[in-house]
Amino acid sequence: MAVELTQLRDIIVGTIDAILDACKREGKDFPKLDVPAEPAEFLPDGIRNDSQVLDAITLGVAAASQLIATLQPPAMTLYTSATRFNLSACIGAAERCHVAEILRDAGPKGMHIRDIVKLNGTDAVKLGRILRYLATNHIFSEVEPDVFANNMISSLLDTGKVISAIQSDPVGKFDNTNGLTAWISFIADDCMKSAAYLSDTMTDPKTAHSQDPNETSIQKAFRFEGTRWEFLERPENLFMFRRYGAAMSGAAKLQPPWAVLTSYEWNTLPKGAVFVDVGSGLGNFSLEVAKIRPDLTYILEDRPPVMEKAKKYWEEQAPSISAAGNIHFIGHDFFNPQPQLPAMPDVFFMRTILHDWSDEFAVRILTNLRHAAKPDTKLLIIDTLVEYACSAQDSSALDVPGYELQNAPKPLLANLGFASIASYDLDMVMLNNLNARERTIGGFLHLLSSSGWRLVAVRKNPGNKMWWPMIIAVPA
Ligand SMILES: C[S@@+](CC[C@H](N)C(=O)[O-])C[C@H]1O[C@@H](n2cnc3c(N)ncnc32)[C@H](O)[C@@H]1O
Repeated sequence: MAVELTQLRDIIVGTIDAILDACKREGKDFPKLDVPAEPAEFLPDGIRNDSQVLDAITLGVAAASQLIATLQPPAMTLYTSATRFNLSACIGAAERCHVAEILRDAGPKGMHIRDIVKLNGTDAVKLGRILRYLATNHIFSEVEPDVFANNMISSLLDTGKVISAIQSDPVGKFDNTNGLTAWISFIADDCMKSAAYLSDTMTDPKTAHSQDPNETSIQKAFRFEGTRWEFLERPENLFMFRRYGAAMSGAAKLQPPWAVLTSYEWNTLPKGAVFVDVGSGLGNFSLEVAKIRPDLTYILEDRPPVMEKAKKYWEEQAPSISAAGNIHFIGHDFFNPQPQLPAMPDVFFMRTILHDWSDEFAVRILTNLRHAAKPDTKLLIIDTLVEYACSAQDSSALDVPGYELQNAPKPLLANLGFASIASYDLDMVMLNNLNARERTIGGFLHLLSSSGWRLVAVRKNPGNKMWWPMIIAVPA
């Protein structure tokens, strides 16, 4: 009788007890929802980054969301699920109206909506309703009728810039920021709009079975032809282009801060080793590696307009590394053979590249890298993994060193449901924008073996078994 409810209750109670124990052990309080996020959220010693707490959070979130789905009348769950587009739209609107920046100085007392709109020129009644909708979803607080304040979640929409600076240079809103707001803005704008066309794309005979990145929902949403990369690089889309560059560094905020350092034995690379970041974007990951290994030779490769931006970015972010001259920026199309490099590559690195392409295209990229590899070149891939939502999983993958299944206790979904939803959300973004996908570990085994590589290990991201692990391969 009600066994599942009892099991869910026990998981939730157990996870809260584990979190309280960790807080006691560390002498720290757990962050409160109604105050802005502490910088510790992004530091190794933040309580939420403690390994016991990380594990408890995963189970607690999985159980709490399954409890909601079990308890709530199903018609209501279906309705409130189908209306989640409002959440995305309202987050996008709050960001575009710079509400988090406006509320920063107001502190916990908050600011009346009539004063907020004096600073951003929007409609008080409409913006008030948007903020109330968000506050009802725990994003912003309504501290008195029509008075709003930042809370832990909304404070992360704050770029840290003053409102007058944003208004005088709106295109550069995300330049020189930590990129998290840019990532959220990109998701709640480009990605939300393309998702709106998913059912049309699925049923249009021209696009229904296409694997072509030129035939996706984003072309329907923004009415253009060509790839989204070409679209972003059009002069009229400069804001989107610059936001996308910043967003790629912001996405790294979704993993614990020490994940870069623990993802590979960077100290095993010899001095001067050639590290090639394929499809580097601005090269945010390489920049983190360069901070601990400034003695390597870094090669960043991406589309030429991106490389122009990357060069400037490194000059600002890492002037000493840039000045030392061991960094090269090469405009390159990864569907062509590798360009001439200063020496044979020791590492080919790709973060969130393969998920941008369906298998046919991904194998072409990997084959070009294989042709340019030496026998001991390492291929390091960071990409999100997905698993089946049932308990049976891909058995061929189970002997990959370091690969772990979720091991979810009953009655949780085998993939931990909502606790893993970020990976599945990204899978939908890839479908809508590029006809591409996140892959299971079996999917990576297939890609790598089809292109002359052998998968040798998976290093899970300490915060999440599926989000951004390091997948390591060598020439087969
Ligand atoms: C999802 S972003 C990842 C950027 C970077 N690796 C990171 O993690 O921040 C994908 C990158 O692939 C680049 N790209 C797309 N098509 C490309 C091509 N044909 N050749 C080289 N780079 C390409 C894009 O310009 C973009 O910078």
